[in-house]
This record gives sequence, structure tokens and C-alpha cells, in this order.
Amino acid sequence: MKKITPNSSPRNIIAGTPEQRIAQFKSYLANHQHLGTAFRKSMDAISRSTGPRIVIVTGPTGAGKTTLARRIYRELASIYRQETEKDRGFLPVAGISAVPPSGVSFNWKDFYIRLLSNHGDVMIDRKLAVPRQGEIFCDALPMSPLERSVVDTLRRSLESSLLHRRTKVLIIDEAHHLLMAKDPTRLEYQFEALKSLTIETDVTIVIVGTYGLLDIRDQSGQLVRRSEIVHLPRYDIRSETDKAAFSSLVATFTRELPLEQAPDFLSDDALEYIYTKTAGCVGILKDWFARCLEQAIKSGDKTFTIDDAAQYALCNKALRTIIEEAMDGENRLQDEDIEGINMLLHNGPPKVSTEQIDQGSKRLKNRRPVGERLPVRDPIGGFRHAAP
Ligand SMILES: Nc1ncnc2c1ncn2[C@@H]1O[C@H](COP(=O)(O)OP(=O)(O)OP(=O)(O)O)[C@@H](O)[C@H]1O
Ligand SMILES: [Mg+2]
Repeated sequence: MKKITPNSSPRNIIAGTPEQRIAQFKSYLANHQHLGTAFRKSMDAISRSTGPRIVIVTGPTGAGKTTLARRIYRELASIYRQETEKDRGFLPVAGISAVPPSGVSFNWKDFYIRLLSNHGDVMIDRKLAVPRQGEIFCDALPMSPLERSVVDTLRRSLESSLLHRRTKVLIIDEAHHLLMAKDPTRLEYQFEALKSLTIETDVTIVIVGTYGLLDIRDQSGQLVRRSEIVHLPRYDIRSETDKAAFSSLVATFTRELPLEQAPDFLSDDALEYIYTKTAGCVGILKDWFARCLEQAIKSGDKTFTIDDAAQYALCNKALRTIIEEAMDGENRLQDEDIEGINMLLHNGPPKVSTEQIDQGSKRLKNRRPVGERLPVRDPIGGFRHAAP
């Protein structure tokens, strides 16, 4: 393991109330390697004129996805600052966090209302579901339930609002909630709603969320054609570069702790323990250190040790859930061999027996809901057991 020069005096001033000191640490943002790479890839995809209409930013919990989404938002706002100052009606970038459904499926109505209100729309509660011009054959061609509803009216209001304000990018955080549908066949509606939003408005939609978002790639050809995936991964101990980057991140965070003396976590044992208890996720590390800091300040301690930190670490069961979810997502991100695609193109799909079809439909019925992890237990890597 690469050694980093120990830091005996933290850079921060220890003055201020306990709350101020905690807030100071919480607001600190490190410019770490994976964040930088994912940021560049996202900005490249957004700004390319031939780029995708949907950018899917995904990663494990606590990898810093929301932090990345905010950075993209700030960057876009600053790129268009001069134009927005001249034209107050111009809203180049809009952002929203998709709230989880309180019922069985994602609530599009609530989503459109929130987005319209964020977008400065007025009289949202006065939108009427009027029949569209030209729908003279509506008896012959029945409309979908979505078309007849208030949801459809709100969607059209949103589309026109995005067009009028010439919005270029819409960032949706926690976007895996959009795909939540109890009945798997309803998932088609969720894809349809996203597709419609991007086609009708010509807005680039950046959807940020867990690996559950990969369902889009796996199940909607129309959306996948218009999308590009940006991965914000955890630090993987099996890679030497990741190991070094993670160690230097630990050193950076300890330096930023507003304590009289920075904790000394530079030994291999300390780093291994920290890696295990964070699964290599920046956010888990930061939140953990914030809890340790709060306790140290309360007890009037100059610093905290690895034993002190152990009391505020995530429990192993929670870590297992996080690691299994992360590994499941990482596996899903692996591309398949071109030979398989060639076989499919030349020979068509493999022939299946009636028995297999029956088994398949049974499997479909028992399909996991979006975001639910596989019930497998993958081995976890550590500093000592890591592959060279
Ligand atoms: N680069 C960074 N530097 C410092 N702190 C960070 C950084 N990235 C994330 N954090 C902190 O880690 C915590 C979790 O980050 P964030 O919410 O961005 O993760 P996330 O991937 O969106 O997690 P979730 O899957 O739970 O939504 C937050 O407290 C955030 O401030
Ligand atoms: Mg988040």
C-alpha cells in the first residue's frame, strides 16, 4: 500500500460552535478521481450535438451521485450565465429529485406538478384535461388511460413550459423511483413517459440513480437507442489505482476534519478496516467521519482513533447489502461478447421448448421489482485477500 505523508495539523480552524464545525466538514467536497471522470463523461455526453437524449448516471449508494448531479447543474448554469442574465425567461437547466411512490407505482402526476412548480409555472392546479384538436376518431381509436387523464394534461403543460423557457437539460436525481411499478407490465408506461418527455421537448434528460436504472437499457430498445450510461463506481480494492486513490481520499478527509489533531489512519491495518467498513464508497466514508467528528467534539477530544471510529461504523449486515447491490450492478454493466450478437443476428434467437417457455413465464411472474438486489452472496475482497 502506498504510504502518504502523515498530517499532524488539520488545515481547518477549530474555532466556531460544534454545529459550525460539523457543518464545515459536511460541506467539504473532495475532487476525487471517479467523480472527476464521471463529471467529464457526463458533460461530454450532454454537450455533444450528436450526443444522447438521455444520460443515465448510475452507481452504488453513497458513491456521490447526488453530489455529481449538483456539480453538473452548477456547471451548466455557469456556462449559460451570460445568456440567462440577458434573458430572464431563459432557463437552460432544471433539476428535480424524484420522490418514491407512496402507492404501488411512481406518481407521474405529482412529479409533473413538482417539476412545473420548480420551473416557475403558474396556475398548476388550473390545468384542464381538454380533448386535443383532431381527435375526431377517438371513438374508433380508444385513447390510453394516460391520455385521458390529468396526468396527460400536466405532461403537455410541462412539455410546453420546457419549450417556452428553452430548457436544454433536465436533471432528475433519484430517478430509479421513476421506474417503480408493482406490475412489471406497467414498466412500459414509465419508459413511454420518459421517451415522450425527451422527444417532445428536445431536452437532454440526465437521470441519476442506483443500478436499477439499468432496466432501461435491458428492457426498452427505444430508450436505449437514445441513451448513454455514465458509471460513478465505488473504489475497488482489486485495482491498484483505486486502492491508491482511496487511500489518498482517506488522508484528505482526515486533514479536513476540524479537530486539534488529525486522526492517523495511514497504517495498512487502519486503511483495510476503513475500506471494509465503507465498501470503497466516498459517501459512506464521509458520513461515517462526520459521525465520529460529532462525537469527538461532544466529548471534547482532540482527535479520534480507529477504535473510536469503529463504534460509528455501519454494521456488517448493512455493508453486505450495499456490497451485494454494488456487485450486482457492476456485473450488469459488463458488456456482452460480440460473438453472441453475431450468433443472434445470423441464427435468430435460440429455439426454446414449450417446457422452457412455461418455466420462463413462471420466472417473469416472480421477477424482482426494480432496485431489488439478487439473492446471491458474492465473496467480498479485502486488502489482504485482494488479487494482485
Ligand atoms: N466528492 C465528495 N467529497 C466530499 N463529500 C462527498 C463527496 N461526494 C459525496 N460526498 C458526501 O457523501 C454523502 C453521500 O453523497 P451523495 O448523496 O452524493 O451520494 P449518492 O450516491 O447520491 O447516495 P444515494 O445512493 O444514497 O443517493 C453526502 O454527505 C455527500 O456530501
Ligand atoms: Mg443520491
